[in-house]
Amino acid sequence: MTAAASEHRQPPPAAAPAGEELVLVMDFGSQTAQLIARRIRDAGVKSLMISPSAPAAEIAAMRPAGLVLSGGPASVYEAGAPRCDPAIFDLPVPILGVCYGMQLACHLMGSKVTRGAAREFGRAEITLNPGAAAKGQLFTSIPAHTHVWMSHGDQVSGLESSFDTLASTPTCPHAAVKHRTRPFYGVQFHPEVTHSPHGADLIRNFLYEICHCRGTWRMADFLDRQVEQVRGVVGRERVLCGLSGGVDSSVVAALLHRAIGDRLTCVFVDNGLLRKNERNLVESTFRDHFRLDLRIADASRGFLSDLAGIEDPQEKRRRIGRRFIEVFKQAALAVRGAKFLAQGTLYPDVIESGHGHAGQSANIKLHHNVGGLPPRHELGFELIEPLRDLFKDEVRKLGEVLGLPEQLVWRHPFPGPGLAVRVLGEVTEPRLCVLRDCDEILLEEVTSAGYYRKTSQVFAVLLPVRSVGVMGDGRTYDSVVAIRAVESEDFMSADWARLPHDLLARVSSRIVNEVGGVSRVVYDISSKPPATIEWE
Ligand code: XMP
Repeated sequence: MTAAASEHRQPPPAAAPAGEELVLVMDFGSQTAQLIARRIRDAGVKSLMISPSAPAAEIAAMRPAGLVLSGGPASVYEAGAPRCDPAIFDLPVPILGVCYGMQLACHLMGSKVTRGAAREFGRAEITLNPGAAAKGQLFTSIPAHTHVWMSHGDQVSGLESSFDTLASTPTCPHAAVKHRTRPFYGVQFHPEVTHSPHGADLIRNFLYEICHCRGTWRMADFLDRQVEQVRGVVGRERVLCGLSGGVDSSVVAALLHRAIGDRLTCVFVDNGLLRKNERNLVESTFRDHFRLDLRIADASRGFLSDLAGIEDPQEKRRRIGRRFIEVFKQAALAVRGAKFLAQGTLYPDVIESGHGHAGQSANIKLHHNVGGLPPRHELGFELIEPLRDLFKDEVRKLGEVLGLPEQLVWRHPFPGPGLAVRVLGEVTEPRLCVLRDCDEILLEEVTSAGYYRKTSQVFAVLLPVRSVGVMGDGRTYDSVVAIRAVESEDFMSADWARLPHDLLARVSSRIVNEVGGVSRVVYDISSKPPATIEWE
């Protein structure tokens, strides 16, 4: 392990304890490599990512039930293309090569790989050869004609004589292969993506028909292992955790608390830009229920004075970011003797920061997550990131296992700069109060109509314009509030939610009647792109 890796205290993958099933995923740099690991977990088997440089002996020592070679952007003949130790194909471990993983394995075992006539990207019709769907095979119970998702330039063109072809597509004669004497299988397509409708079945077949797994992995096991690892890394030291009240930091705090109890101190920065009752929810959950050492840094005055007279969204963010670092640093200094800082970095954050490749995981940089914490070297902490292999919905499942309240576990994302980017124009306490009241009504109605879990993010925005209205017998000239509700997989793109009109009508009527100073409510029907989710 490199110095950088040990500095991050990411424990190396350990050998599976006797009886514990483990399937390894060798990461050749595909964007979907972690998705393979995730599908394996979904199928009830523990999985870990490893680097292509792992020697066969090291892999054998981990006693895996199976090994998957992921896809990747390289071409096998390219100089510097990632390779694996060819001795892995002599191990008595079933191997599934996916896309580049299949091409590399076939190439190392004597087959010919060539550039296809055209890059194939998207849906392809696949036909299975007779016998491919029999019991105990990769395609057991999968229809003889189905479709799969392809994304490749190269493909295996000349198959060495010890291989059999299991399936083909019109443009890919060896879309799936099997070695006759070694436990090797290869697929040119991507079974891990949902666009391959039987992909999850194929992965299950690999695990259950070929690797003979029993499916013993549960999220509760992940929790136990993380708790154990955290205890091992932290020893008798203390840990500091920045708690924002979002799902990720809440799950990290609850997990750390289970691992080290009162040697965890959480800091929650009240920046005065929070939603109604947000601070109360965090306090009642973590201080009253979990009884953890929670310190509140009440810095609302500082944040609001920084924002006085500022209308430019970027300048608001800069000022909030700077103040946050200052407040957090002060709060951290007050926590004596903490050596570690815990963060809720998730796998998509790791990918976004461009370091998703297990082969490079030693170099993973600190990702500036929601709270916008200062760089680690400025704080002088070592980092603990127990969620870095998980996807968001897995974190929610973990939160449920930890006993966090539904309100926290299923929370929509909330931006670090808080309501400051939803009060358009100048942020003042009276305008924040108006927005908080509108937002509370909106969330109440959306939740009681059963739309909170069906949407990805719902919020109100206070616009910097006034409009004419009529109330009673009088003319009003008051604020306009916009309602934003979106559905999104990854928040990189989003569509506006088709909320029922009667729900929108109730929200609108309650807002103009119950919140002073608002005379008009509008509904945002912009998708992202071209609009962003937040208005600023
Ligand atoms: P946009 O507005 O860029 O938002 O479409 C995408 C997602 O990111 C959240 N968001 C932020 N989160 N700090 C954050 O921690 C920020 O400055 C920030 N800006 C936007 C937004 O709420 C949505 O979930």
